[in-house]
Amino acid sequence: ARTAALIVAAGRGERMGGAVPKQFAPLGRSTVLAHAVAAFQAHGGIDQVLVVIGAGHEAQVPAGVRAVIGGIERRDSVRAGLAALDCTHVLIHDAARPLLPAPVIDRLLAALGTAAGAVPVLPVADTLAHGDALLGAVVPRAGLLRVQTPQAFRYDAIVAAHEAWDDAATPTDDAQVARAAGYDVVTVEGDNALEKLTYPQDFAAAEARLAARLV
Ligand code: C5P
Repeated sequence: ARTAALIVAAGRGERMGGAVPKQFAPLGRSTVLAHAVAAFQAHGGIDQVLVVIGAGHEAQVPAGVRAVIGGIERRDSVRAGLAALDCTHVLIHDAARPLLPAPVIDRLLAALGTAAGAVPVLPVADTLAHGDALLGAVVPRAGLLRVQTPQAFRYDAIVAAHEAWDDAATPTDDAQVARAAGYDVVTVEGDNALEKLTYPQDFAAAEARLAARLV
């Protein structure tokens, strides 16, 4: 198997409101993006790392790492990355999730032995409620899962799934694209360290994990 890691980092990170998109912000001794790159480079099961970057942000790619230019929506960036890869399996990862424990990669690669796709998931601990016209109405959380990245796929399967995707809809991850095309996507245990950095306060939690060597 030739296994690639595809890190999408071409988003604008608007909810963060910082001077640079969140994936390039400082974290620990490097940047958010550099942490994710390093986690894949350190794993023996990953043969190549490709970053998808927005035009003009090429200088933010860690030295020696290959990069291609992304698109308007996340799925456009994923497609651009997939087109630039030569591999049998691919782990697609959000740069906004910098702390990536090696055991999660181990579990994903093991699951790919039989399934076309595998995703890390965690249960929902909070109460969920509607914020719109149904304000306050509680959504039963039993059976609900938080789906993280990296998401692992057979390369041929995820390429075909993205080709088949109805462009009227905007997918928030790749597992839903694979499932819509009929591929089997199994779940493996996720990790709280993989939490996506979305708001400024999320950085403090990530710094604390780094300082405590919880990743
Ligand atoms: O905005 P959100 O946090 O959902 O983005 C998830 C990931 O997808 C981020 O790492 C972001 O940089 C990436 N992305 C991208 N190209 C886009 C939009 C988002 O690579 N056009």
